[in-house]
Amino acid sequence: EHGEPLKNVKVLITAGPTREKVDPVRYFTNHSSGKMGYAIAEQAAKLGANVTLITGPTSVDFPNYVHVIKVESADEMYQQVMNYYPNADVVIKSAAVADYRPIHTFEQKMKKSQDHLVIEMEKTTDILKELGMKKRQQILVGFAAETNDLEQYAKKKLQSKNLDLIVANNITTEGAGFGTDTNIVTIYDRNLTKTELPLLTKTEVARKLLEKVQSLVKGVKE
Ligand code: PMT
Repeated sequence: EHGEPLKNVKVLITAGPTREKVDPVRYFTNHSSGKMGYAIAEQAAKLGANVTLITGPTSVDFPNYVHVIKVESADEMYQQVMNYYPNADVVIKSAAVADYRPIHTFEQKMKKSQDHLVIEMEKTTDILKELGMKKRQQILVGFAAETNDLEQYAKKKLQSKNLDLIVANNITTEGAGFGTDTNIVTIYDRNLTKTELPLLTKTEVARKLLEKVQSLVKGVKE
């Protein structure tokens, strides 16, 4: 239908940061506000999609007409994404997932004692990479948040994670990345064709991205 180009399409979106606990009062996290992912979820729902949003802790209002699942850690996000993946037509991973977590989580508050403190960390599961390996007909969209060599790293992630699209943002550019209402992104497809977008609101970025997703979905269904 014309007004709802994503009608009956199941879209799974991740957003926000994760929290990796050290003890009952402390955790490792990052600056993701959830705004980018929430904008995609809201716009996908407006285009008629059946949207599930898996989100780390944020203070942004949940979008309307979206099934929301709250998680904290990278591991919880992994579990939930894997639950919904087999049924999804499209997955868009805008969450800023921790790459490392503390090996030990202390039950009691850590006390201040020695002058130097070392917290040992271990890798979390790369959720997107797992999805890329298990991919059947799903359309997989990743993000790349970089501070340097954006194009090179984005293309590498696109290929190594078996993605259909990657959205690259340089998080050190004014008006782009974490926390802002705007973003500046370049989208690469599987053929490494690139679409450079100007400074846009996250809502506008979401619309542009979903236009690309829409044409890929059409390709799968035809
Ligand atoms: O939330 P906002 O404040 O609006 O900010 C938006 C944003 C900057 C968070 C967003 O635009 C963005 O770039 N999201 C991806 C952040 C990120 O973690 O990028 P990355 O380059 O480290 O990871 C690459 C991809 O792998 C991402 O799609 C990420 O979701 C995924 N990943 C990473 C690590 C991991 N363990 N599992 C993953 O799935």
